[in-house]
Amino acid sequence: MQVQAFKDYQELSRKVADQIASVIRKKPFAQVCIASGHTPIGVFKCLIEDIKNGLDVSKITFISLDEWLNIDPTDPGSCISMLNKDFFDHVKLRKEQVVMFDVNANSVAECARVNDLISTNGGLDVMLVGIGLNGHIGMNEPGTSFRSYAHLSNLAEATRTSGQKYFQKPTVLTTGITLGLRHFAESRLPIVMANGAKKAGIMSKILNSKPTEDIPGTIVHNIPQALVMLDEEAAQEIDH
Ligand code: PGA
Repeated sequence: MQVQAFKDYQELSRKVADQIASVIRKKPFAQVCIASGHTPIGVFKCLIEDIKNGLDVSKITFISLDEWLNIDPTDPGSCISMLNKDFFDHVKLRKEQVVMFDVNANSVAECARVNDLISTNGGLDVMLVGIGLNGHIGMNEPGTSFRSYAHLSNLAEATRTSGQKYFQKPTVLTTGITLGLRHFAESRLPIVMANGAKKAGIMSKILNSKPTEDIPGTIVHNIPQALVMLDEEAAQEIDH
């Protein structure tokens, strides 16, 4: 694992986008997993800019990290609606280039479908994730096995509450469907991105703890190729 800290959110976003763009340049058929949420919005802006300037994503497969269950995918707070608004709507992609969990299909079959698709095509080349205030990655909540692939998740209380920020009105969040921590560990370039003072506590906890399934983000200690990319605010409680 390597930890990198940057001056501010803008610089952090540019550096994360550079990492992803560099994989895309080297491997035009790459499988790129991206998270929704507030953290990666700056990265998407940079990538949209790069694509306008000639970065070729015409053969890339983008895989959406997770989704709320029992929420209409057209709700503006769904993961796919956010990814559409922040990224996919701005980039010309064929339908088959975007892989997401279909929440209207059988969830167990969906996990198998997405697991198979990822492994059949050689695994994830990039997996960009944010971090929850409870240390979750995607919807891999505290207690999730490090060996999990895609699965259904019973959302932690913290996630049910913090998830409200994406919705226009109070919304009952109970379960989700998510790629697993093993996808993260096996990906060729796993990136944890965090910005802002709000994430300082959890990032120092993650970086100062031994790997434990009680704090999913601590899996980074087991992954030699993992990058933890922070802005100065999120890095302020880390011992340098
Ligand atoms: P955020 O969410 O990017 O909106 O902060 C991160 C997370 O909870 O995984």
